[in-house]
Amino acid sequence: MNTKFIFTLSIVILSLILSAVAHDNEECHYVKRSPELFERHDYENNDTCPCTVATATFTDKVTGIVVFAQDPCGSTLVTGLFSDGLVDPDKNCYSFRIVDKCGKLLNDLTSALNVKFRNNGTFPFSVRIDDLNLNCDSDGVLLAESDKKRYVKRDTGADLQIQQNGQNYASAPLSSV
Ligand SMILES: *[C@@H]1O[C@H](CO)[C@@H](O)[C@H](O)[C@H]1NC(C)=O
Ligand SMILES: *[C@@H]1O[C@H](CO)[C@@H](O)[C@H](O)[C@H]1NC(C)=O
Repeated sequence: MNTKFIFTLSIVILSLILSAVAHDNEECHYVKRSPELFERHDYENNDTCPCTVATATFTDKVTGIVVFAQDPCGSTLVTGLFSDGLVDPDKNCYSFRIVDKCGKLLNDLTSALNVKFRNNGTFPFSVRIDDLNLNCDSDGVLLAESDKKRYVKRDTGADLQIQQNGQNYASAPLSSV
């Protein structure tokens, strides 16, 4: 075989693999993505986003769950319900913020969520937020890096933090599922 042929063949194989990957993204296929594929995902080329889902579960002071589902365009559907612990929402002001592991604000969801309170919790809510992504680009909140201490391994990820009257009240990590 001559080298030209081998070269052409490898181009063909490469483009087959690439189109399979692109197709996979388009269709949001529900096969588990291997971490390797994830790392090779080419965000620079305006590729579609992985369909990542994360949850934040509150079981301590506050009871509730919030689910974050990123679509291929990098918008994120935020769906959830709090059933207890948001005491006296008529008198207290609650805000919902995504913060990095050092507590630095990444995205304030309060006005977008616009939750309706019920007793010490909320009615179910579900909002698509265009300027929130989980791991689509470098702003992805799951990719947020924070240096807690120097010389210690960096911490990656984000928490959903609830504030009551401007003070930290409860928080739960966003865990991808
Ligand atoms: C990415 O694609 C979208 C939709 O096709 C387009 O609106 C946007 O301008 C593109 N961004 C870049 C950086 O090419
Ligand atoms: C809200 O929580 C407070 C404190 O736990 C409790 O005293 C109150 O009865 C609760 N209100 C409702 C409507 O559940």
